Amino acid sequence: LILPVVLAGGQGTRLWPMSRSTRPKQFLPLTGATSLFQATLQRVADTTRYLPPLVLTNADYRFLVAEQAQEVGVSLTAMLLEPVARNTAAAIAAAAVYGAKHFGPDVILHVLPSDHAVEADGGYWAAVDEAADAARAGRLVTFGIMPTAPETGYGYIEGGAPISGEVRAVARFVEKPLRPRAEEMLAAGGFYWNSGMFMLGAGTFIEECRRLAPATIEAVEASVERAMSDLDFVRIDAETFAKAPDISVDYAIFEKTDRAAVLPVSFAWSDLGSWDAVWKVSEKDAAQNVANGPVTISNTSRSLVVTEKAHVAIEGLDDVAVIASEDAIYVGRLSEAQKVGPMVKVLRNSV
Ligand code: GDD
Ligand code: MG
Repeated sequence: LILPVVLAGGQGTRLWPMSRSTRPKQFLPLTGATSLFQATLQRVADTTRYLPPLVLTNADYRFLVAEQAQEVGVSLTAMLLEPVARNTAAAIAAAAVYGAKHFGPDVILHVLPSDHAVEADGGYWAAVDEAADAARAGRLVTFGIMPTAPETGYGYIEGGAPISGEVRAVARFVEKPLRPRAEEMLAAGGFYWNSGMFMLGAGTFIEECRRLAPATIEAVEASVERAMSDLDFVRIDAETFAKAPDISVDYAIFEKTDRAAVLPVSFAWSDLGSWDAVWKVSEKDAAQNVANGPVTISNTSRSLVVTEKAHVAIEGLDDVAVIASEDAIYVGRLSEAQKVGPMVKVLRNSV
């Protein structure tokens, strides 16, 4: 059985003002009744394929995680609590160390972001099974999404020599390229976006960390060794974990390793990185509007309204995003929704 590893410690600033550091994106019901985190748990609830999930999160989010898991009736293998945020290299390393200790070094980890929208259709499950086979053969497997624009927020993967079936070696992995480089890769062809989901053997990953990210694995092993169990929480030791470098797994491992493989996939995927992306995957009315919460819309098209409490009425507009949280409101052009991120950096100290 595969051990699902759900990464739920990120802070997601581009969906301000709904996504806040006290309640980030993955815990919000952005596209339906359940949160993205809950949808992720539901996706790994199949006990013929999976062990109960291991959730990695910041200690601050422990009650949110516990409450949301209970709401969808999913029991966890454990919740590993990071005392400080050290990014995904340290989080995945902690999952690998914990997984190897409890299930043996051969256990396969399916590492999942908790803040994506994915359509788990037949093609998705076929990809999961094929990736698991490649991981058992010692590969660190990525899932390659066909790119549609020169986005700079993703990792780019160049497919290399065939390994087996659809799985190919990774010729090159370029994390978050600058715009000109992204344009080049898109034009050249043969590149995929990294989906952010990985399939890897715990032992293989630990070995690669020892070779490529020794400071990370050293800090993580010490901190998991000294972890304290507290109810259903496993509290990673703060002093030793803090010594892990703050670096993502993409830079620390995937750009450098020669054991990476890519499985090109075609299931529907969105990292919901902006309000525009939320609009794209949501159900729309005849005028292409999306409304979530108490909303009245008239004479308006291609717009998104998300509100928690306040009733929002909009009239005679086109291409707008109106996002009303309890204490902050954002209004902007929906097609330029990626401008929220930089704005939030400015706002950060004042809200
Ligand atoms: N537990 C834990 N601890 N989780 C974390 C931490 C942490 O310190 N930091 C981030 N996460 C979680 C986030 O909540 C998210 O679910 C996932 O890990 C990925 O982190 P992001 O911060 O969202 O990464 P990204 O979007 O910039 O880039 C990654 O995803 C892209 C696809 O969406 C990379 O893997 C890119 O290569 C990839 O294209
Ligand atoms: Mg992300």
